Amino acid sequence: MHPREKAVDAFQKQFGKEPRFLAIAPGRVNLLGEHVDYNDGFVLPAAIDRATFLAFSPSEDNCNHILAADFNEQADYSQFTLGDKCDLDGNPLRDWVYYPAGVAWALEDAGLEAKPIVGAFSSNIPRGSGLSSSASVLVSFAVAYQQISGWNIEPMALAKLGQKAENQYVGVNCGIMDQFASACGVENHLLLLDCRSLEWQTVPLSDQLAIVVADTSVRRKLTSGEYNKRREACEEAVAVLKHHLPKINSLRDVDVIEFEKFKTYLPETPRKRAEHVVYEIERGKSAPALLGNGDFDGFGRLMEQCHASLRDLYEVSCPELDLMTELAKDLQGYIGARLTGAGFGGCTVNLVHAQVANHFAQQLAQRYNQKSGLTAEIYVCKASRGASVENL
Ligand code: GLA
Repeated sequence: MHPREKAVDAFQKQFGKEPRFLAIAPGRVNLLGEHVDYNDGFVLPAAIDRATFLAFSPSEDNCNHILAADFNEQADYSQFTLGDKCDLDGNPLRDWVYYPAGVAWALEDAGLEAKPIVGAFSSNIPRGSGLSSSASVLVSFAVAYQQISGWNIEPMALAKLGQKAENQYVGVNCGIMDQFASACGVENHLLLLDCRSLEWQTVPLSDQLAIVVADTSVRRKLTSGEYNKRREACEEAVAVLKHHLPKINSLRDVDVIEFEKFKTYLPETPRKRAEHVVYEIERGKSAPALLGNGDFDGFGRLMEQCHASLRDLYEVSCPELDLMTELAKDLQGYIGARLTGAGFGGCTVNLVHAQVANHFAQQLAQRYNQKSGLTAEIYVCKASRGASVENL
């Protein structure tokens, strides 16, 4: 069953009435600019045509009643239990509940009322696949609370509140990219975001190009711990480089020449992490012009460099992601491929000539299966609009 129907159906069965609204918040794929959002760099994601669907109505008893339809678990919390991260019975919240509850907490903390809701949600973004399933849950609840609480803020402001929930309530020190893409997506466009100023613009996706997402089917555990460690290593690099470059506040402020001059002062791990970030920010600066001028191969080379750097310097790849990017190179239509999202498993993103994209996807799935024995889901995805709410 499609998650749209599943959410509505589950709502009806669980709560014995019709939901009034449906929130839809997409996942995202990132074309370039990986692990640079929390270093003030440039990212180039697109919202995709896979999403979290949340059927909801205002609550009648001042408490939130939320059903995760995909694993058939209900959670009940109120604004009075949010701070203690427990449910109405005083039990600690289960992992998935941190996302909806975190949004309510972040809104209240920002002085925006989060009127309680009754809701059921379902998603077709595989969890842990690097396509921002968690950000899409956060954003779906942010737009749902907005719908029924009587205030209205910019999509970017909603994205920031989603990030705050993930940073401070869930405890993952992520950047803004995923929530931004889910909230602000534009159909058939990539989104170029400057993560320092938060200014952004759309970059049309040529109809000669297709984005193919290839899910290795490998999932890594403890990703959030490794993720937070990467971020700390970047902060350590800034602290050391600041002795030589006192004006810097983040790795965004260090250009390639300065980095090469001072990198020997850095211990090995922060040096490798910072080297990825400094060069990836440089790639992010040149990418939009390449796409604009139709230099697709030039853009593809940046994607390849990005993958190699994530593999060797940032150390967030894995054998299956490396295999998937290598196999893609031999296929007709290939322009560029790399891992997308945080890494440690999950998906690659492939830029492919549109005419042969379906064939490319089929061939890649077959070859990956032959080499690894694993079954990969590989599909052409559409750059889609950001989060919205429909009346039912
Ligand atoms: C995760 C985070 C993002 C970003 C990417 C890596 O998806 O949520 O903020 O840092 O990893 O680019």
